Amino acid sequence: MDMKILVVGGGGREHAIAVALSRTMGVDLFSVMAKRNPGISQIVKKTLLQKETDVKRVIEFAKTVGADYAFIGPEAPLEAGIVDRLEHAGVACVGPDRAAARLETDKAFCREMMERHKIAGCPVFRICHGVDDAVSFIKDYGGDLAIKPIGLTGGKGVRIMGEQVDRAGAIAYVKQMGGNVVLEERLVGEEFTLQAFTDGAHLVPMPLVQDHKRAYEGDVGPNTGGMGSYSMPDHTLPFVTHSDYSAALGIMRSVVAVMGKIGQPFKGILYGQFMNTSEGPKVIEFNARFGDPEAMNVLSLLTSDLSDIVVSITEGSLSSKGVSFENAATVCKYIVPEGYPDAPNIGDQLTIENPRAALLYYANVDERGGQLFTQSSRTLAFVGIGQTLEEAEKKAEMAASTVKGRVRHRKDIGTTGLLSKRCNHMKELR
Ligand code: AMP
Ligand code: GLY
Repeated sequence: MDMKILVVGGGGREHAIAVALSRTMGVDLFSVMAKRNPGISQIVKKTLLQKETDVKRVIEFAKTVGADYAFIGPEAPLEAGIVDRLEHAGVACVGPDRAAARLETDKAFCREMMERHKIAGCPVFRICHGVDDAVSFIKDYGGDLAIKPIGLTGGKGVRIMGEQVDRAGAIAYVKQMGGNVVLEERLVGEEFTLQAFTDGAHLVPMPLVQDHKRAYEGDVGPNTGGMGSYSMPDHTLPFVTHSDYSAALGIMRSVVAVMGKIGQPFKGILYGQFMNTSEGPKVIEFNARFGDPEAMNVLSLLTSDLSDIVVSITEGSLSSKGVSFENAATVCKYIVPEGYPDAPNIGDQLTIENPRAALLYYANVDERGGQLFTQSSRTLAFVGIGQTLEEAEKKAEMAASTVKGRVRHRKDIGTTGLLSKRCNHMKELR
């Protein structure tokens, strides 16, 4: 098969997408990214170094190279309408158009859609457009709330009462946001990620993954883009029962069905972030794209051709027969600059001492003269694959702990100690 695919985005997630696509013979890859990702650069024919939201330039580039398909990694270009414009120019896309991407980019749209169509797993919420309304809701609500800016914040704009802020802090925060917030019941439980391929009608799930948002070991410190993640050989998680899993999958299927029904079909990757609570899974949010780091877990296990999946998503012929994953565990650990996320050390050299211990995905890293240097965001990720979680963790840790430089990673991700803590937490709640 001869096909040209444009990968949009330059992080670890997009490196994993590009690697998976490059496994198919006859696929030529092209890339658009704001900063040069050394891993992606190695496997694509040509790169446009440009912000992914500069849609006009992306379209010109796609036409110049003759791209047949585009795979959109991050959310910002989706919000900028990149899919609408690429498809208008004849490039079939994995990723929703701007209207459907509102599932992620407009938290108010998402919650209202869930409420209106009675989709299960929706927490109590209130959409506010003014400080007075938001403040009086916070004062009147008995329990703790999550406060979310309505638009995109890279996962860092949420404040949880009882965790990061008290009631007074919550009030100060909504004032700072000008009152444009979604207030939600604070969900208590264990988080998990369910990602699925969808062509707008059919939905095919991928293995469950758990991400770690907090910067430091033991889940403390500020929220980050995600410090690492793991998945189990049976593609589920030990604190998620069969009935939790069916409920989460049912919620995802309902969302795709409703989006079709309201004339905004959603195609691409649907990412469901769930809180498994004492009452089963509740939706924290949906994303309109792969998770980063979660993409690295699942794509490292994908045994079918991602390029075939691209074709079936864009043609509307997606089927579970065309999608399979290896039954192995994965552990992904991100290496980040010291000080990340609040005050990252930029421009520090790092060296990889043990490159063969695990798979390596580059993210926000500068390569000059064969040397690697940190930038402001997550640097690079290692993914260990093993028959057991222990084996996968050992590999990822071996690779991560031998990196030299002013960088760090979370040693506890994927360890059995942390996993039993999560399982015990779930038991206590139930
Ligand atoms: P988001 O930007 O929606 O991914 O939220 C970032 C993080 O805030 C999530 O990973 C959760 O840990 C937390 N969070 C978001 N919404 C809630 C909620 N309603 N209850 C408890 N935690 C939440
Ligand atoms: N890992 C969370 C995200 O990609 O939004």
